[in-house]
Amino acid sequence: MSTILITGSSAGLGLLAAKGLLAEGHEVVLHARNKERADDAWAAAPNASAVVIGDLSSIAQTRDVADQANRLGPFDAVIHNAAVGDRERRVETVDGLEHIFAINVLAPYLLTALIEPPQRLVYLSSGMHLGGDPDFSDLQWTRRRWDGSRAYSDSKLFDTMLAFAVARIWPAVQSNAVDPGWVPTRMGGRGAPDDLELGAETQVWLATSQDATAMVTGAYFHHKRKRQAHPAARNIAAQERLFGACEVITGTPMPQASAENGTTYK
Ligand SMILES: NC(=O)c1ccc[n+]([C@@H]2O[C@H](COP(=O)([O-])OP(=O)(O)OC[C@H]3O[C@@H](n4cnc5c(N)ncnc54)[C@H](OP(=O)(O)O)[C@@H]3O)[C@@H](O)[C@H]2O)c1
Repeated sequence: MSTILITGSSAGLGLLAAKGLLAEGHEVVLHARNKERADDAWAAAPNASAVVIGDLSSIAQTRDVADQANRLGPFDAVIHNAAVGDRERRVETVDGLEHIFAINVLAPYLLTALIEPPQRLVYLSSGMHLGGDPDFSDLQWTRRRWDGSRAYSDSKLFDTMLAFAVARIWPAVQSNAVDPGWVPTRMGGRGAPDDLELGAETQVWLATSQDATAMVTGAYFHHKRKRQAHPAARNIAAQERLFGACEVITGTPMPQASAENGTTYK
């Protein structure tokens, strides 16, 4: 039995992954943005062991989520699933950051940096990351004409980059990215063509399976098969720029692993 934390597990693929893990007998800690959504999550997955609460669009609340998680952990796996899709207009968070970047990129960065490293990390990417552009010159979209679809694609490219960067610097941790397919959740929309159940299976498998094919690191999966990720995700200079940009905004560096044993220190 493994203990797994899933961000954004009040709905959609996060909730589905939680239910799948619970059905297999694992211990699951849910996450929801506020008390009301936490009640919804409990109601939908009553066998979960706890719910951590916090809005990931806020740096302060994201730090608090990490504190709550560390009080409940350590975890065998963390699934970084919470995200928002492309928006019609550019929205700023309480910290003055572009909304999609803050929730989809900065929050998983900060949670990764602050939560005691689990054995496995899974980051939700998307096929749309292939259309992303690792442009660090305007991460907050203050100069460019707003394009929500592009902001989302970029955010998923950065999630994939984060997964591969963590795999590189923390060799003791299995860190992978997943494209769940285009599935009919609130984000995917009713007409999404892919299989919803299948959309959560790879995350569950990567978080818990002892299959040799799941016990890997630095890979990008779709339906349990490795796929080719955007080449920029493996670019070490780009990975370091991403870490640097997130550190400047949050003041929190990504802990580095010691060369001798692969364990991380803060
Ligand atoms: N659906 C697809 O077709 C598709 C395709 C490719 C990749 N993905 C990826 O799969 C993951 C899950 O997507 P989904 O389709 O399941 O989306 P969803 O149904 O919209 O669910 C998103 C989850 O994230 C939570 N969340 C969003 N903003 C949050 C915030 N500020 N603070 C805390 N929690 C927040 C939501 O909470 P609330 O319920 O309270 O809003 C919800 O639990 C995402 O990373 C997405 O990019 C999805």
